[in-house]
Amino acid sequence: MGQPRALLAGSGIAVPPLEIDNDTLSRIIDTHDRWIRERSGIVTRFYVEPGTSSSDLGAEASRKALEDAGVEGDEVDYIVCATMTPDHYFPGAGTLIQQHLGLRPVPALDLRQQCAGFAYGLQTVDALIRSGIARTVLLVGCDVHTSLMPFSSRTWEVLHDESKGPLEPEDFEWNSRFRHLLVLFGDAAGAMVFKAHEVDDGRGILGARLYGDGSRSDILMVPGGGSRNRPFVTPEMIAGAGMVPVMDGRSVFKLAVTRMPKVTREVLEAYGYTLDELDLLVMHQANLRINEAAQKALKLPSEKVFNNIQKYGNTTSATLPLCFHEARQAGKAKEGSLVALTALGAGLHWGSVLMRV
Ligand code: ACO
Repeated sequence: MGQPRALLAGSGIAVPPLEIDNDTLSRIIDTHDRWIRERSGIVTRFYVEPGTSSSDLGAEASRKALEDAGVEGDEVDYIVCATMTPDHYFPGAGTLIQQHLGLRPVPALDLRQQCAGFAYGLQTVDALIRSGIARTVLLVGCDVHTSLMPFSSRTWEVLHDESKGPLEPEDFEWNSRFRHLLVLFGDAAGAMVFKAHEVDDGRGILGARLYGDGSRSDILMVPGGGSRNRPFVTPEMIAGAGMVPVMDGRSVFKLAVTRMPKVTREVLEAYGYTLDELDLLVMHQANLRINEAAQKALKLPSEKVFNNIQKYGNTTSATLPLCFHEARQAGKAKEGSLVALTALGAGLHWGSVLMRV
């Protein structure tokens, strides 16, 4: 046996308590259940209580993953955290998760690849374990999208049933400006624990094909709140919606339906497998229609694809572990199963990772 492989030892998820259905959203946004279901497949999503951050959710998912893996906190010798909504501008959420978990000081790496963050994290874990730098790695994907939602406190009151409503027309109009975006997202976290595996039985992370292309960064981004601005945030920027993500949904859709199947084929081919040998495909959950089109392009039967966007919406870095964990619970990722985890997100970043459970 040469290098050790990164073998999945356990997984866990954290889902916040506030379940928001499409009808509830239509109280604060000019939208309706049918539009959201037909265009995206989403039925509900979950929001955190005010004050709950990405690292809080990340730590909760991590505790569950460690318990599932039967791994004590002091065994963890590296943390990799993917989030696009860190608790603060800096530091990142990795060390905050280490602190929440009460772990000894270990290297903690933050990744900024948005919806593809967890896929990049899997490749990082693979490299850390194969190289011998780490033997037990905690990989976390956590995002609190509600922090990016430009709602007034009155909107939140109506949403949380603390006030009867209806919303004032100005608030309703403002929220509706972003309706194509706001209905898609939810908060969640997912975590996986990987251990160095010395047995040469083909199990573990097998490899990845990842890409980044800044030429399309404009189709999905937050224009304000960065070093291009001095100061990085101003009251005018907030008033002008500069802190709200900008999304050209159609362009993202078109890229996702072509690149996700292409890169899934590529990673299988690169490691000597066929689509027939694939047991499970877990894709980023941005839109059920994207995933249905990708499944069709790959000619995969429904039992080999698992989606849960219907329940959680798009939770960015958390979609891959959240979806994988539920697929595993449903018996679709048993020991020995060949799984591809494929994503595309802002940056653009996209890619696919192959692992044998
Ligand atoms: N409710 C009701 N109507 C709406 C809503 C809404 N929530 N949002 C938009 N509409 C209306 C539009 O105003 C438009 O009306 P018009 O025809 O009268 O002008 C009509 O619906 C069509 O709007 P489109 O934006 O063209 O709708 P589309 O079919 O493209 O669907 C969607 C939009 C669901 C966003 C789709 O483009 C998509 O899913 N794209 C990919 C999104 C994605 O993957 N994002 C990645 C996010 S990852 C990240 O953020 C890190």
